[in-house]
Amino acid sequence: MSEEIKETQATERKKRIFSAIQPSGTITLGNYLGALRNWVNLQDSYDCIFAVADLHAITVRQDPKIFKKNILEAYALLLACGIDTDKSMFFVQSHVHTHAELAWILNCYTQFGELSRMTQFKDKSQKHADNVNAGLFTYPSLMAADILLYQADLVPVGEDQRQHLELSRNIAERFNGLYGKTFTVPEPYIGRVGARVMSLQNPIKKMSKSDENANAWVAVLDKPETVMKKFKRAVTDSDARICIGEGKDGINNLIGIMSAVTGKTSDEITAEYDGKGYGDFKTAVGEAVIEELRPIQERFAKYIKDKAYLEEQYRKGAEFALKISQRTLDKAMKKIGYLPK
Ligand code: TRP
Repeated sequence: MSEEIKETQATERKKRIFSAIQPSGTITLGNYLGALRNWVNLQDSYDCIFAVADLHAITVRQDPKIFKKNILEAYALLLACGIDTDKSMFFVQSHVHTHAELAWILNCYTQFGELSRMTQFKDKSQKHADNVNAGLFTYPSLMAADILLYQADLVPVGEDQRQHLELSRNIAERFNGLYGKTFTVPEPYIGRVGARVMSLQNPIKKMSKSDENANAWVAVLDKPETVMKKFKRAVTDSDARICIGEGKDGINNLIGIMSAVTGKTSDEITAEYDGKGYGDFKTAVGEAVIEELRPIQERFAKYIKDKAYLEEQYRKGAEFALKISQRTLDKAMKKIGYLPK
């Protein structure tokens, strides 16, 4: 994005949004409908900054070859989903050294007790009991650095990241309290919330690619036949009525997904499928999802082949991100008392 555009945006005082996603190897339909699709829609009304959070990803062990591939694929897939580098700043976190630097500083303004209370840390340290590394523990201060470096006003996050955002706010307020206003205190973005997509196999749980049962989730890059197979196997109930209801978590989820991809309300959907069987409905949802994913998959196939284009985009993103974030880092360091370079 050109300097002019950014400057105009600054004078118009569009609110700034920051968000990031980890390059996990699989971006699910849940990630897409719950978060990414909304990022794309925010691009016209906000000054958006997005990143592939690859520094966060090494809190669990990564295989170098696969990791490298996952980072590039995550970048390409986000472009394919509609992140537009003419409208938004979009970069790879590890390319912008200010993130690791501010994270260190913020670590010294974050209390052991606060980090110990993070539910994600408690969960992950149980799951990866053989590798409870310090990075896993201090991960929220890196996330705070991501957000605070850009003076973001708003951060769209899911339920699972709320506590980390709250901590980012506390760190910002603490630092501002000690040294005077340095960081914008970010608010959670509460807009048109994305769909909460549940597991297709156990619909009281959120759809997650870490589910042992691969039929529980659909990946944005799953082949059409795989998508269809997973929807056909989706768990429902014995009630045989297509409507929203208590104890009908599977059907509620399918109606929610159908509504998210077609834009129809759940009332319209239940009216349309009234009297039809679950089999027909599952096929219809599968087809609708396949159609939603088709253009994304086509764009992804095009981008991932064009390494030069991807490189050009992420370089441009990193260059701009460094410029903005360096200002904040310098300001924070000066306040602490570091000698200017
Ligand atoms: N921690 C987030 C996740 O795992 C990803 C992330 C990193 C992020 N930095 C961020 C999200 C800053 C919002 C803002 O989903």
